[in-house]
Amino acid sequence: MIALGCDHGGFNLISAIKKHFDEQGIAYKDFGTYSEDSVDYPVYACKVANAVVGGECELGILCCGTGIGISMAANKIKGVRAAVVSNDFGAEMTRRHNHANILCMGGRVTSVEDALRYTDIFLNTPEEGGRHDKRVAMLTELDNGITSFD
Ligand code: RB5
Repeated sequence: MIALGCDHGGFNLISAIKKHFDEQGIAYKDFGTYSEDSVDYPVYACKVANAVVGGECELGILCCGTGIGISMAANKIKGVRAAVVSNDFGAEMTRRHNHANILCMGGRVTSVEDALRYTDIFLNTPEEGGRHDKRVAMLTELDNGITSFD
């Protein structure tokens, strides 16, 4: 199950992603918003973040105008590794190396065609272990309150 969320600036991309998932038979839960009326992106970031860290959904996708604000909000929730993606390589590597669990994109900066491609890459790329496990564990330490590795 993939958690989906957006504000008004990302509504176009999430609508296209839902259609894409419907065509491919990919299960998703849409946490809103459900129109282009102005809303506050932290609300939807929290809904998707909690669904992912709580285990209801394996991965999430969040879209706002740039992808930036909604990723900042999501990353405040413990256990979230949300990544703003704007190229194919980033979509792949943030899964492989950062073990990103939420893909963030911007409806005002990314075309529907590119967003669907980043989505497919993100969902189809596995996490790599090895040296990356240690670094992701360090991200978890930051989540748990440490502020330095010195
Ligand atoms: C909303 O106008 C806009 O600020 C929001 O979608 C997002 O781009 C923030 O980072």
